[in-house]
Amino acid sequence: MTDFSSVKGKVAVVTGAAEGLGKAISKCYAENGMKVVVADINTTKGLELVKEIKSQGGEASFIKADMSKEEDVKEMVDFAIKAYGKLDGIVNNAGLGAPNRPIHEYSTDEFDYLTSINLKGVFMGVKYGVEAILKSKSSGGFVINNASLAGIMGNSSMSLYTATKHGVIGITKSASLDYAQHNITINSICPGTFRTAIWGDAPEELIQQYAKNLSPNGRLGDPKEVAHLALFLASDLARYISGAAISIDAASSAGKITPAEWSNPEILN
Ligand SMILES: NC(=O)c1ccc[n+]([C@@H]2O[C@H](COP(=O)([O-])OP(=O)(O)OC[C@H]3O[C@@H](n4cnc5c(N)ncnc54)[C@H](O)[C@@H]3O)[C@@H](O)[C@H]2O)c1
Repeated sequence: MTDFSSVKGKVAVVTGAAEGLGKAISKCYAENGMKVVVADINTTKGLELVKEIKSQGGEASFIKADMSKEEDVKEMVDFAIKAYGKLDGIVNNAGLGAPNRPIHEYSTDEFDYLTSINLKGVFMGVKYGVEAILKSKSSGGFVINNASLAGIMGNSSMSLYTATKHGVIGITKSASLDYAQHNITINSICPGTFRTAIWGDAPEELIQQYAKNLSPNGRLGDPKEVAHLALFLASDLARYISGAAISIDAASSAGKITPAEWSNPEILN
């Protein structure tokens, strides 16, 4: 029988873990016996999550870490090793969206800000995460970088976000080759449209409309669905998967939806 028990006792840092996909991943890891370092800029929600995990018998600790700050990233991995004696993996999940605009309406300050978290943050998470894995273990480990559907295809009015996410996949592919001999797997996951705080204040109607039009199965993803993929990648079942950009998007990135068929499914019958 195939099971996920190989994750038991593994130590993982999850960044941007206080909410959304990072929270779902942290909970799922803890439920399956992993020791989780919840890293986020939001102390209140991060501590709440740790309390929730502990109340359910799981193991977790919080550290405040801004992924755009090198000192914070270094302290975050040191903290994991001090708390649990080793680091098995890191999920570089922290990331922000950007307002949808054509490129000439973005400022270079906006570019610097978004890339400092979505791209430099992931660069540093991989750099210091891998360093800590190599120092603390004889072999093996995993890195999961949260990219996006926007990491594998262009999106109108999203050049800035799209650039950061393509960069995340570039880092993933190259780094996976560097550490393959060390048995450290490095993958990107590419979520489509999930229901989290990344949507900000967008009206519910707009979100549902977006899901209906752009998600081929017509619904938003549940963060738990991303967590299950992240659990698989953390397990020993996935040791041969590395350098991949794995879509989890109900086929959104698989190709173009032909408008007539999409809006009139009856013509297919
Ligand atoms: N939700 C989606 O539909 C979707 C789709 C594709 C990709 N993603 C990616 O998934 C990741 C998580 O997105 P989400 O939807 O869960 O977002 P979210 O807004 O729900 O949660 C993001 C978390 O990151 C934290 N954070 C923000 N800036 C940070 C920083 N500088 N350092 C550390 N933590 C920081 C926030 O406090 C928050 O807890 C992001 O990288 C996002 O680009 C999300």
